[in-house]
Amino acid sequence: METTENSNNTMVFVENLNVIFGDKQIVQDVSFNVEEGEIIGMFGISGAGKTTIIRVLTCQIDKKNWSGNVLVTGLNPSKKGNHSKILSNIGYVPQLELLNLYFELNPMVNVEIFTSTYGMDKKEAKSTAEKLFNILDIPQDTWKKRVKKMSGGEKKRLSMAIGLIHNPKVLFLDEPTTGVDASKRYDILSYLKKLNQQLNTTMFIITHDLEAALICDKCAILREGKLLEFDSPQNLINSLPSNGLVARISIENLNQEIINTIQKYPFTEKVLRVGNETIEVLMEDFEDSLPKLMKFLFENNLKVYSMSRDVANFRRYFQIRIQEEEEIENRLNNSEILNGGDNP
Ligand SMILES: Nc1ncnc2c1ncn2[C@@H]1O[C@H](COP(=O)(O)OP(=O)(O)OP(=O)(O)O)[C@@H](O)[C@H]1O
Ligand SMILES: [Mg+2]
Repeated sequence: METTENSNNTMVFVENLNVIFGDKQIVQDVSFNVEEGEIIGMFGISGAGKTTIIRVLTCQIDKKNWSGNVLVTGLNPSKKGNHSKILSNIGYVPQLELLNLYFELNPMVNVEIFTSTYGMDKKEAKSTAEKLFNILDIPQDTWKKRVKKMSGGEKKRLSMAIGLIHNPKVLFLDEPTTGVDASKRYDILSYLKKLNQQLNTTMFIITHDLEAALICDKCAILREGKLLEFDSPQNLINSLPSNGLVARISIENLNQEIINTIQKYPFTEKVLRVGNETIEVLMEDFEDSLPKLMKFLFENNLKVYSMSRDVANFRRYFQIRIQEEEEIENRLNNSEILNGGDNP
């Protein structure tokens, strides 16, 4: 039974995914669903296993290396017989353009080769390519020149155009904004959002760019192969103390000792150093706690330059969540050392 938990609108269904290479567990018990039309952002520091998950979903990892229930557009990628159908339903923009572009050929010939594998009509392919190239700002004078002469950002956008050319139901993008300058990054994100709204394309975006959360319906946070969170950015922020309200405080000669002192204050939930002399403090019962905190700082002879209040954004949430996980791990490691670890 493949489709019991898979509603008609579920584009990606992942349950207890484990990936092992050699003796290394790369992905551990990861489960999530992606519904039609959603944009999912997957975030996590380098080596967390993000690309590996996308490679399972796009039929690029041999079944001997993974286990779990996975359905992509309702089809199980562990069955080789499903691969061509899955691949025609999805688009894939890899982390390295090298993997889906022929650098010695020009963009239009790349399109021809790619679309011929789907049996797409030549004329239709050409006009779709022109439309996508224009939307993605790929300069017309590069369309007939070898790809290797294009700039990094142009190659990236060409790779996206190729991933979209057959109008896939789900588009997987691995680092679409890496190597693209800041102003173009926003263009790419807003372009993805536009496509998602116009064509209802479901999107799964891996990125280090935490601003990308702005266009995401849900954010996945991955650390060392484990999925820590999978929810809307707003719900994640609301799960912080006082729904993510923060006091941003600049203190003269800020150092770790001062941070520890503030951390010990009873209402303080978290203290983050966000600048040389600036911290952000999260507290329960923010409105009541803030004046008490200011009094506490005064009583401890700390000189406050400025204080402002704000609400945490996704970038801050991510920092807090990863820090929390590191603290848990450190505590576990320390207690193992105290207990003599595995050696009795
Ligand atoms: N084919 C493979 N064989 C052995 N180890 C692998 C293989 N592919 C990935 N790994 C390992 O799996 C881990 C996760 O890699 P992955 O590429 O999924 O990380 P990532 O989260 O995409 O990182 P980045 O942000 O740097 O792209 C890494 O330690 C990597 O070395
Ligand atoms: Mg990667």
